Amino acid sequence: MPQIKFYKHDPIPLEMHKVKIVQQLTLLPVCERLERIRAAGFNTFQLHNADVFLDMLTDSGVNAMSDQMQSAMLRPDDAYAGSETFFRMNAKLTELFGMKHLLPAHQGRACENILAMRFVKPGNCVIMNYHFTTAKAHITRLGGRVEELVKAEGLAPRSDLPFKGDIDLEALEACIRKETPANVPFFRLEAGTNLIGGQPVSFANMKAATDICRKYGILTVMDASLLQDNLYFIKTREPGMADKPVREIARMIADLFDIIYFSGRKFGFARGGGLLVRDEALYHSMEDLVPMFEGFLTYGGMSVREMEAMTVGFDESMEMDVISQAPQFIGYCVDRLDAAGVPVITPGGGLGAHLNAMEFVPHIPQQEYPAGALAAALYLCGGIRGMERGTLSEEREPDGSERFASMELLRLAFPRRVFTLSQTEYVIDRVRWLYDHRELVGGLRFVHEPKTLRFFTGVLEAASDWPEKLAEAYAEEFGKDQ
Ligand code: F0G
Repeated sequence: MPQIKFYKHDPIPLEMHKVKIVQQLTLLPVCERLERIRAAGFNTFQLHNADVFLDMLTDSGVNAMSDQMQSAMLRPDDAYAGSETFFRMNAKLTELFGMKHLLPAHQGRACENILAMRFVKPGNCVIMNYHFTTAKAHITRLGGRVEELVKAEGLAPRSDLPFKGDIDLEALEACIRKETPANVPFFRLEAGTNLIGGQPVSFANMKAATDICRKYGILTVMDASLLQDNLYFIKTREPGMADKPVREIARMIADLFDIIYFSGRKFGFARGGGLLVRDEALYHSMEDLVPMFEGFLTYGGMSVREMEAMTVGFDESMEMDVISQAPQFIGYCVDRLDAAGVPVITPGGGLGAHLNAMEFVPHIPQQEYPAGALAAALYLCGGIRGMERGTLSEEREPDGSERFASMELLRLAFPRRVFTLSQTEYVIDRVRWLYDHRELVGGLRFVHEPKTLRFFTGVLEAASDWPEKLAEAYAEEFGKDQ
């Protein structure tokens, strides 16, 4: 999606695809939404999708496929062992990233499990720019620790820094020395840093960070789940990169790492995952974990139909017209909200628009999960389902106390090629209404709190009758039927 010029109209993102198949949506009246969110324990993960108008929970496994991807799904080879589908997928990834060996896995977190099981021993420290929930859960499950060294500016909600996912290079070297290289089983760099607002990492920073790791003999791992967004930002924001084809940038990045893993629910626009390994001996040292936990080495728990679609999706992820869509829609949404005075994470990144709950509802203390409360409130105010990315998504300290997240975000994901600009305008409008009525939003507390990854299945309740009051005010503004 190049920035198409308009004659009289202000510039807006313009889709370079058209809709061929649709899913009908319903917008329940606000009183019904109140019932549904209560029944869901004020946890948007627990809503039924039929009760949701715009599902902005995630970009994972819900991106729109292209006609080319769908047609590829008609040709899979479903052999248990030696499937041609696997060899096609492996060949495409080798073509793009120059790494020969592919370990297939059913999704991204399965790759994280394999990495952690293979490399992490109790007391080890895995250094990264920022954690992702499942990556950290697997490392800590095995007695490891995570050290997050994203530059301080990366955590500033408002900024015009183009690469807020960059790691602090001095801190990285100091940390390796403090821990000693022997205690650092691998270094993980997450492209399009999810939990701090889908913020990209510059190529220059990737290069400098991996150079440091190489100096100390530390294995370098890239989480490429959000690579397609990061590629777009490197091409559009990093000096000297504008003229390079996306494929060339992808290859330059890949050449820096020993292992690249990805969630194919994001990268590849389908559902699956995989680990690419450069070194053959290293690959062999991990391969037994695939048949044990995923499936045979030529499908790794994935459907062969999805693998075929993904193989086409990898190619589409190298097309500027394709990878521009989500960042441009997100940028549009973020800029409009910012201009209206709504606290958002700036600049817009990949994955989604992120509301800064700390500023949006400053009256809600962190122990009452402001971002979780905001997620429940936005579902009430418009049927929009977002995801809490804050303290609720953290795990408690070993002594049972809360670990307060450094950012309290409500993420409104933009699954790729899914929503239209008018739907985006609706989201902006409802968020603005909620911001003008923010004092009506109150806190949440747990009724049932799972120990691990509690945000998925936790049940909460409102700390007061704020949801009823908010629903009343909404009905007064827009009518009972909306
Ligand atoms: N790494 C990153 C950066 C991710 O965003 C995700 C998933 C994973 C790994 C795990 O991959 O879901 O295929 O097991 N993120 C999803 C999200 C869940 O909604 O942000 P997975």
